[in-house]
Amino acid sequence: MAIQLETKATIDDLLEIIRKRRSCRRYLPDSVPEEMIDNILEAGRWSPSGCSSEPWEFVVVRDPEILRRHSELYKELRALSELADTGPDGFPFPDMDYLDNVTVLIVICGDRRLGRTYPELYYRSEIFHQSIGACIENMFLAAAAQGLGGTWLSMGKKLEPPLAELFGIPDGYRIETVFAVGWPDLKREIRDRRPFEEIVHRERFDPARARSADQIADTVRAIRGRRREDRSLSGEISEGSQRLSQERAPS
Ligand SMILES: Cc1cc2nc3c(=O)[nH]c(=O)nc-3n(C[C@H](O)[C@H](O)[C@H](O)COP(=O)(O)O)c2cc1C
Repeated sequence: MAIQLETKATIDDLLEIIRKRRSCRRYLPDSVPEEMIDNILEAGRWSPSGCSSEPWEFVVVRDPEILRRHSELYKELRALSELADTGPDGFPFPDMDYLDNVTVLIVICGDRRLGRTYPELYYRSEIFHQSIGACIENMFLAAAAQGLGGTWLSMGKKLEPPLAELFGIPDGYRIETVFAVGWPDLKREIRDRRPFEEIVHRERFDPARARSADQIADTVRAIRGRRREDRSLSGEISEGSQRLSQERAPS
């Protein structure tokens, strides 16, 4: 007999959290209760992973001096990356000053040696990264479900060594992502996604909807252009946004 998954949560509850979750790049300086952070960590712990390898470790950082140094290093990387990615199509980096207000970081470390768990003919590194991605998304949803904001901070080649030293990451481990969590200072609108009919194929991939190299190049340009225009990305408060301090739950 099949074992049924029994839960009080409905698919509507789940989809609402998924749709309402937004990246946060503007935080209030108020602290986040430990229990809420533990809920996020618990969501990460329960993530699926290739071969159940559970290739992650989480470092919770609250020390103001370490947070300050993290922000400083991240801003230095941004400046370097901007220099490397210039021109009209250059990558539009958001303003990173919001990192000065972040009160909690969860450093998501990966143990890439566990990639060897998967069979040799599999794409081991992809499976490893998909496992880490699943873990981060679970955490992001757990943050959103509690009214917290989160930022998924990608790692950079120049940034990882000094951050590994800052967070005391031992040899053999890598920093996959730093996840910033806090009380959002900006209510962001739900942003739509590519339409259902455009991305869903039935039985076989519809070749009429396969994008050519030129279409992809246009799409990349359009995405970068849209980012440039997205004022809320850089932390500016857009019309209709409100401070959330009065609305939110416990402090
Ligand atoms: C793999 C991955 C890496 C990302 N890296 C960054 C990052 O370095 N900095 C950042 O501010 N947001 C980062 N994001 C967040 C995306 O920019 C964001 O999810 C996307 O613009 C959609 O917006 P939303 O999260 O508000 O729905 C990342 C997201 C993913 C999935």
